[in-house]
Amino acid sequence: MKRIDPQAIGTAAFHAYLLGAVAPRPIAFASTMDAQKQVNLSPFSFFNAFGSNPPTLIFSPARRVRNNTNKHTLENILEVPEVVINMVNFEMVNQMSLSSTEYAKGVNEFVKAGFTEVPSEKVRPPRVGESPAAFECKVKQIIETGQEGGAGNLIICEVVLAHIKPDILDEHGQIDPFKLDAVARMGGNWYCRAQGAALFEVEKPNTRLGIGIDKIPDEIRYSPVLTGNDLGQLGNIEQLPPEEEIIAFREQADLYEILHDHHLPAAERPQALHLLAQKYLRAQQTEAAWKILLQPEMKA
Ligand SMILES: Cc1cc2nc3c(=O)[nH]c(=O)nc-3n(C[C@H](O)[C@H](O)[C@H](O)COP(=O)(O)O)c2cc1C
Repeated sequence: MKRIDPQAIGTAAFHAYLLGAVAPRPIAFASTMDAQKQVNLSPFSFFNAFGSNPPTLIFSPARRVRNNTNKHTLENILEVPEVVINMVNFEMVNQMSLSSTEYAKGVNEFVKAGFTEVPSEKVRPPRVGESPAAFECKVKQIIETGQEGGAGNLIICEVVLAHIKPDILDEHGQIDPFKLDAVARMGGNWYCRAQGAALFEVEKPNTRLGIGIDKIPDEIRYSPVLTGNDLGQLGNIEQLPPEEEIIAFREQADLYEILHDHHLPAAERPQALHLLAQKYLRAQQTEAAWKILLQPEMKA
């Protein structure tokens, strides 16, 4: 591993490693207002959700590394402690980037970047009409992480009202990740688009108590075929399938074929079975994969 001491390489160089590695990051497109009601709109990828009761979002306008000054967003929040955090989808990404230009204080980036100001209901700053989801927030607390250039200012926000575009919802009224088409920030100039093959599901283990990788029999655990992901999926099962189901599964066409392939040397059978089990794992059929892996021939 390359060892990097943040103190030794300086803020700007370490910033690049930090943001390259902590990625992808969601983007808070923050709309704020100063005491004179001048509107500001800027993106911040030091951002996430931290609790749902109260619903809490935190983002961080950092002190500029160049000259150790604060962002207008922070200055506005110190005057009017309210913000709308708008979410960013792929359609908005170039305009959003344009809005991050260091325009002079008082310049409205809704105008510069061509977004629609929609009046908010519970806070003063407007929301972005084009955003798929927007959260009206009251600022509860600001935590400074330091005084030097690059230091963060954690803006702790409580969501008081959410707006969700109906066209990103599925038939159950939940947000459909395929319809959201979210973008996130990587290091440098890179972004990532959460769409198509980039989206995949992993079953939550929250209601079950998986056996864990340590309880997987050695001949499976140390398979040259199965990957860490495969083992993670196998370890999420609560109980191994009963003997009679394992035996009944021998009639399954693809398994039957391997077990009755007389040209396949017995020593190569475990590998063939591992490859077949892997196919089932990739199809999210964990029980079936176990029934293959627990065949007596596995020990051949
Ligand atoms: C996608 C994206 C994410 C950004 N994230 C941050 C961030 O988390 N913190 C930060 O201080 N600046 C971030 N920036 C830079 C600010 O958006 C930029 O400094 C902006 O001009 C600040 O505007 P303001 O001074 O009007 O608040 C980001 C820029 C982009 C394009």
